[in-house]
Amino acid sequence: MEPIAPEIERYAEEHTTPEPAHLVALAEETRTATQLPQMMVGRVEGRLLKFLVGALGARRVLEIGTFTGYSALSMAEALPPDGRIVTCEIDEHHASIARRHIAASPYADRIEVRLGPAIDTIATLDGPFDFVFIDADKTSYAAYYEAVLPLLSDDGLIAVDNVLWMGQVLDDTDQSPDTRAIVDFNRRVAGDDRVECVLLTVRDGVLLVRRRR
Ligand SMILES: C[S@@+](CC[C@H](N)C(=O)[O-])C[C@H]1O[C@@H](n2cnc3c(N)ncnc32)[C@H](O)[C@@H]1O
Repeated sequence: MEPIAPEIERYAEEHTTPEPAHLVALAEETRTATQLPQMMVGRVEGRLLKFLVGALGARRVLEIGTFTGYSALSMAEALPPDGRIVTCEIDEHHASIARRHIAASPYADRIEVRLGPAIDTIATLDGPFDFVFIDADKTSYAAYYEAVLPLLSDDGLIAVDNVLWMGQVLDDTDQSPDTRAIVDFNRRVAGDDRVECVLLTVRDGVLLVRRRR
């Protein structure tokens, strides 16, 4: 099941500001040099991430799941010159593509790719982070959430990708670990008194979370 009709996706993309040339080039290489290019957030969600980082006035951003760097480079566009993104990636091939495109972009000084299991990298980081984007292995979403919540600034925001899992969250017969992990995660956050959240039906679902006020 596709959560959003393809024609609506196309319409949304056509009515969203195009990404800059360096992201078009990155997306093109990602399509030819990786096995799952659809992991990239793409134009609409990439522009949304830039909007959120800019609207928050975020200076410190943490990303969990770099892939080839499309989302990190999208968010970097909205950072002030002294803003920084730490982005975590476990796969050397993905990280090497990301590092090359980041180095060639106008944001080389703002993005640091950390290679290794994200949960280990997070344990080495000091907060606060103004914006956290969770987009790595789905079975670790709950662990990432608990690890980053204490690192979030008072007005900070967490965005979590793929929370609709192509509509599989509605299928109780789907016992795959990824589907069950996302269903459990969404239920856990919706019932967490520490936070408020909104699940956006953008692309494959984006959950926004912040501390309850
Ligand atoms: C959905 S992709 C991220 C897409 C990226 N945000 C973008 O828009 O281009 C998920 C990435 O998380 C990485 N990953 C998976 N498990 C990980 C882990 N335990 N620690 C760090 N990265 C991990 C994968 O190698 C993959 O590159």
